[in-house]
Amino acid sequence: MYNTMSSPSYHTDMLCKNLVILGVVAIFVILVFFNQIYINSQSFDSNIFTTRYQEGLLKPKETTTNLSHLMFVLVGSSRTLNNRITYVESWWRPNVTRGNIFLDVKPSEPWSPSLPPFKVNEDIKKLKVYPKLRKTVQVRIIRSILETYRLKQDEGVRWYVKGDDDTLFFVDNIVDVLSKYDHTKKHYVGMSSETIKSNFHFSFQMGFGGGGYALSYPLVEALALKLDECVERYYFIRAEDQLQSLCLADLGVDLIYEKGFHQMDLHGDLSGLLAAHPTNPLLSFHHFGTVKPLFPGMDRHGSVTHIMKAANVDQSRMLQQSICHVRARNWTFSVSWGYSAHIYEKLFPRSHLKLPIETFRPWQRGRPPVYMFNTRPVSRDPCEAPHWFFFSSIEQENERVVTSYTRKFPRNMTSCSLSGNISADPLASIRVFSPKTPKQGRKVECCDVEYDGADVANITLRDCGRDEIII
Ligand SMILES: *[C@@H]1O[C@H](CO)[C@@H](O)[C@H](O)[C@H]1NC(C)=O
Ligand SMILES: *[C@@H]1O[C@H](CO)[C@@H](O)[C@H](O)[C@H]1NC(C)=O
Ligand SMILES: *[C@@H]1O[C@H](CO)[C@@H](O)[C@H](O)[C@H]1NC(C)=O
Ligand SMILES: *[C@@H]1O[C@H](CO)[C@@H](O)[C@H](O)[C@H]1NC(C)=O
Ligand SMILES: *[C@@H]1O[C@H](CO)[C@@H](O)[C@H](O)[C@H]1NC(C)=O
Ligand SMILES: *[C@@H]1O[C@H](CO)[C@@H](O)[C@H](O)[C@H]1NC(C)=O
Repeated sequence: MYNTMSSPSYHTDMLCKNLVILGVVAIFVILVFFNQIYINSQSFDSNIFTTRYQEGLLKPKETTTNLSHLMFVLVGSSRTLNNRITYVESWWRPNVTRGNIFLDVKPSEPWSPSLPPFKVNEDIKKLKVYPKLRKTVQVRIIRSILETYRLKQDEGVRWYVKGDDDTLFFVDNIVDVLSKYDHTKKHYVGMSSETIKSNFHFSFQMGFGGGGYALSYPLVEALALKLDECVERYYFIRAEDQLQSLCLADLGVDLIYEKGFHQMDLHGDLSGLLAAHPTNPLLSFHHFGTVKPLFPGMDRHGSVTHIMKAANVDQSRMLQQSICHVRARNWTFSVSWGYSAHIYEKLFPRSHLKLPIETFRPWQRGRPPVYMFNTRPVSRDPCEAPHWFFFSSIEQENERVVTSYTRKFPRNMTSCSLSGNISADPLASIRVFSPKTPKQGRKVECCDVEYDGADVANITLRDCGRDEIII
């Protein structure tokens, strides 16, 4: 009984031992086998790696973005264009900037070679959605992006930049700003309006179309496939740029705000705004027909040509604000490079002077708050109101650039100081010396003033000291 009883257990033991041995062998075999596969796959991987690495060496390194990588999509109408040609001509660089201007009908006049080539938009009456559309011109505008894509002129293009026929672009700065972003990813770069109402009525999340916006090429490709579908989905939208932001949102892409794009939903005199631009590079202006000429005593077209004289020399400093003081006289100088210079008969810190003086009015009147930024009121207080000087000329010397700003009208106020002997009235012009090299990064430049009591002051721009405070 014991034996018989023990034998099964013996057999069971034997079986177990055999199983254990078998198991060990099996595990060993499995280990060796899979290890082999693992080693193989590793060497396979490393082969891919080496191949890719070698391809990387063979292919030219990805260059930084330059002007040739931008495709401009401008939209106008034959009715308005005649009056707006100077705006386009002022910044367009024939045979350098790439792109087209899209029109509703073929222009009757011969086309100037100093303008972008024109294209006539496709007839949108052929679209199924046409009878339902609330505003057909918006669809013509947005489809200019699709029609540009279909022209197959996109070799090497990294970005589409969309603007109107009354948009003034600062193209070197656009290149500088866009080169910060990875053009191989889907990006939508633009800016909202200056006025809260415009953003509220349209969208806080859209790049306003007159100020211009940029789409990276992979986003253009995705949009081109889905654009007509999107127009059908949002047939009731009345504004191209709002429609665009909805189409892009549905493609999973939201706006990146770049403060240098200016829709200019404003009326009146912009000088207070342009004297206090943010440190972001200036990218565009818009709405020249509705604001006063940028310079006193000049017409709109003359003003645009004039401001471009400075922009053609150094876009990195355009409208960049530098502030410095003459402490012996309690004077503060504030320069907006290429546009204007102010003298205050009081010491002010940068925190105060970076607020725009509200010389302008909103697009639509209404109760405050009106603007997306804080402002200072126009003042008749001689300690608060500046002496105004406007950009008059630019010269390039060996190592530096000299911009001059002249007084265009008297201030008509008493001096801020009680003794009255430190009025800035005798000053007729301000000369600003800046380096030939572009301003780096988004930093503020500091300055020093030289003034000997005559009618001109010299200001030299320089890097700010490490711990310098501008007060
Ligand atoms: C712009 O970059 C391309 C390479 O993508 C290069 O071939 C071209 O020469 C560059 N153009 C300028 C003006 O630097
Ligand atoms: C642009 O290029 C064309 C063809 O190469 C040439 O005929 C024309 O003169 C150029 N225009 C300018 C403004 O350089
Ligand atoms: C500058 O302003 C300060 C403070 O308001 C005042 O005490 C000083 O006398 C002024 N200096 C001159 C030269 O006016
Ligand atoms: C200053 O007075 C002159 C002459 O009265 C006038 O033409 C000018 O517009 C005034 N300037 C300002 C800024 O009020
Ligand atoms: C202004 O007048 C005061 C007192 O008359 C004098 O001390 C000061 O030096 C004068 N300042 C200038 C800049 O002339
Ligand atoms: C301003 O700069 C010019 C040219 O460099 C020079 O001739 C003049 O003396 C300077 N004026 C002052 C007040 O420093």
